[in-house]
Amino acid sequence: MADKARIGILISGRGSNMAALIYAARRDGCPYEVVLVASNDPEAAGLKLAQAEGIATFARRDKGAPRAEFDALLSSELHRADVDHIALAGYMRLLSPEFLGEWDGGVVNIHPSLLPKYKGLDTHRRALAAGDETAGCSVHVVTAELDGGPILDQLEVAILPDDTPQSLAARVLIAEHQLYPRVLAEFVTRETRPDALLETVRRLALTLPEAEEVRSHGTPAFRIKGGKMFGYFQSNHHGDGITAILVKTSGGEEQAMLIDAEPTLYYRPAYLGQSGWIGMRLDSGTVDWRHVEQWLDKSWRAVAPKRLAALPF
Ligand code: GRF
Repeated sequence: MADKARIGILISGRGSNMAALIYAARRDGCPYEVVLVASNDPEAAGLKLAQAEGIATFARRDKGAPRAEFDALLSSELHRADVDHIALAGYMRLLSPEFLGEWDGGVVNIHPSLLPKYKGLDTHRRALAAGDETAGCSVHVVTAELDGGPILDQLEVAILPDDTPQSLAARVLIAEHQLYPRVLAEFVTRETRPDALLETVRRLALTLPEAEEVRSHGTPAFRIKGGKMFGYFQSNHHGDGITAILVKTSGGEEQAMLIDAEPTLYYRPAYLGQSGWIGMRLDSGTVDWRHVEQWLDKSWRAVAPKRLAALPF
């Protein structure tokens, strides 16, 4: 298995979600390890637990510190610990756009509501006041908008007739501890798991006009409705161990040139290679999705009937 992803957890208090992640990470086969717990409050109870569990900690009181300065310090500690992704677990301080830019989509958070409902604080009281029948929790990617980043997954929790904000919070917390470790595992492997890679390819391919997914030779393939193929997704096809998207080049010359220029990215696929298709590997650990998108677009155009190819999109 590939190296484990290195996680830094940011907390401000109790740290029960932090504990759930730490213990989940001990399970055989967990794709991440917790390498640093950092806090903006040296008194945060979770720090003691992290230390007792042998995890490095960093704490600095944030009161009065300008946001950019504090976040830069935090960021340098996270880099020093060689952190790959950051998990917020009850971190009660907004992160600056500079910090988020630097960690570029690699920060996730758990929030005690079914987002997009009840962003911010006091979620349980608000759910009860609204007469909701269910509450729950969400794990999302952190963006500059408070609790507004893409939702990765959620768990629903029933609301009982005699629930108080406290009793509901306690039950939602149990759900949080189930949800967060699982979603973090999916998140850190999203660039390597074939099913996750396919999901992204599918999303990109199916936004093209009249695109549809079919199966061809046992693999997911994308074509223009009832017409020609413009992409094949292959994973371990005939046991080759490769996960890739196959797209159509203008012909043998372009194909050879690309493979020559970037032999770790491109290859000549069996069978389809003869008719100008090229394989673009998606299993390198970091995929340039913009590039994949451009290729799908180009491949779509190469096979699109005139009436479609002329569409401005
Ligand atoms: C949790 O309810 C979490 O959803 C929210 O803050 C709380 C933190 O609790 N973001 P803990 O410190 O993980 O116990």
